[in-house]
Amino acid sequence: MGQGKGNIGLAMLLCLAPAAWAGGPSGCDSIAAVAPFTQFNYPLTIQSVWNNNCDGCHVGGSAGGLSLSAPASELNLINVPSLQNPAFTRVVPGDPVGSLLFLKINCDDPGLGGRMPMGSTLSTTQQRLIFDWIANGAPLVSNGFEDR
Ligand code: HEC
Repeated sequence: MGQGKGNIGLAMLLCLAPAAWAGGPSGCDSIAAVAPFTQFNYPLTIQSVWNNNCDGCHVGGSAGGLSLSAPASELNLINVPSLQNPAFTRVVPGDPVGSLLFLKINCDDPGLGGRMPMGSTLSTTQQRLIFDWIANGAPLVSNGFEDR
């Protein structure tokens, strides 16, 4: 399990959550201790997270009707409604806690289905990368100032 349960994400959700989240999310990791990312290269860094943790299931749109395979997996995420419940949107640019993708990797109970990757958890650094990528508008490539 991740460090420091109970958190930034949930506090924000209390203000931002649409009615669809009733019953969740809960058990969310705090990512506050991880320095923010300002630099993004979706095809390299974020796609690598999918390749290493998700593609065993999310290939060809099998699990949850979602393919995370390269190339262009972002087209299956950004502004695309959940196949399981269209009240949820997978990625809402600028709104990580309104994005099902972030809740699925950040919370034990995301409010729809289970935590991802199913059976394990991403590191808080990986969670922070996804949070900041969405918060920054979900760009394909965007230059920032850090080098990591
Ligand atoms: C062991 C198989 C497995 C792995 C690994 C896995 N998933 Fe899933 N995923 C599923 C299943 C099954 C569902 C549908 C049920 C659910 O939502 O819990 C799903 C649903 C989802 C959904 C919701 C799709 C929708 O339209 O409702 C998202 C987003 C998601 N997964 C993201 C990920 C990400 C990101 C990873 C890797 C970090 C990942 N998953 C790893 C099996 C998996």
